[in-house]
Amino acid sequence: MNLALTNGKVFIKGKLVKTNVLIQGSKIKKITSSKIKAIHEIDCKGKIILPGAIDAHVHFRTPGFEYKEDFFTGSLSALHGGITTIMDMPNTNPVTSTIKTRDVKIKLAEKNCLTNFYIYMAALNSNLEEISKAKNLRAVKLYYGSTTGNILMNKKSEIEKLFKLAKKKGFVVSVHAEDEEIMKQNSEKFRGNSNPEIHAKIRNEESEAKAISEILSIQQIIGNKIHIAHISSEKGLALVKKAKKRMNGNKVTCEVTPHHLFLDSSDYKKLGNLMKCNPSIKEAKHRKALLNGLKNGAIDIVATDHAPHSREEKTQDYWKSPSGIPGEETMLPLLLDAVNKKQISLKKIVEAVAENPAGIFGWKNKGFIKTGFDADLVIINMNGKTKIEDKKLFTKAGYSPWNKKTLKAMVENTIIGGQVFG
Ligand code: DOR
Ligand code: ZN
Repeated sequence: MNLALTNGKVFIKGKLVKTNVLIQGSKIKKITSSKIKAIHEIDCKGKIILPGAIDAHVHFRTPGFEYKEDFFTGSLSALHGGITTIMDMPNTNPVTSTIKTRDVKIKLAEKNCLTNFYIYMAALNSNLEEISKAKNLRAVKLYYGSTTGNILMNKKSEIEKLFKLAKKKGFVVSVHAEDEEIMKQNSEKFRGNSNPEIHAKIRNEESEAKAISEILSIQQIIGNKIHIAHISSEKGLALVKKAKKRMNGNKVTCEVTPHHLFLDSSDYKKLGNLMKCNPSIKEAKHRKALLNGLKNGAIDIVATDHAPHSREEKTQDYWKSPSGIPGEETMLPLLLDAVNKKQISLKKIVEAVAENPAGIFGWKNKGFIKTGFDADLVIINMNGKTKIEDKKLFTKAGYSPWNKKTLKAMVENTIIGGQVFG
């Protein structure tokens, strides 16, 4: 492929610059304001060009739950949303906890996943030997509180060993931080009540804060790299902020999802179990704290936690309905809509969806628009129209909490490894 992206505004070093991008093969060959000639040209007049998003947290459900999603539909959904790299979570069947199960999954992804991908390994109380032998680990997932799949690792002695191993091998430990005891006690309190609003009270702020605090207290001694996934509460964020200051470096990072940024407990009335997810979506003050955290750099990245389930499963009684919200197609339009509304800067959003995930998870040659880097790019029309509609979604889930919402920001094309999609 020899392709010129001309007349657009390109996001380079924190700013939009009017320039042209020449793509040769899978790489960015040249960035120049002079005229360029190529076999193919996309006139990007009036559009902006951003690095493709790196989604560090998805559940594409293969193997075992392909009726919810698979690598093809998940990645198709990602490309429609301007996401060019995904990092897939291990709560599948079988759980990705051995080198063998991971290799099987990698083969399936190589065959069917349209985006770049990484396959997480789960840390269990019993698989440190396997993790120590695994190759090319960017990150492993630690479920400190249980969620879909009931994987759990909350033995302090094993976590210490895992963190030592992480430090030695240099991989990041991404943590689902919720406290089992608090959640169990709260579940008892609300037994018999099936109003989805109780989810925020069962998986509450205290549960998240206690788990984060315990995890950080181990990490502070060992000094490994830790990433708190899908942070959802003001107290949880305050703990991460403090730890970042103490560590003065990049050892502690955290993530927020679009649903924790753009929904709050007042939405349960309308959305019910469709917005049931773990950790829960909490009261409006948390949403505001999270948006502030993203603005001031306390939160490093935005990732979808794309967690599709079938509509039949989701619309069951509260106690039976599985947790999870799909988000591949809606993350970038929602975030860029917030830029349009001046709620946050474009610079912060590009850092959060491309530059920072590239840095934290070691994606060399991705996350930035630079000569020699991979041609993973997204062309955006900030004055376009995205109408989110359940029936038009590519995810097998077929629903979105933002169904019927119209946004101005629109993904026009996604370019992955120099290939134009859309
Ligand atoms: O809401 C969630 N859904 N949170 C998780 O931690 C897991 C995920 C899933 O796999 O469904
Ligand atoms: Zn998840």
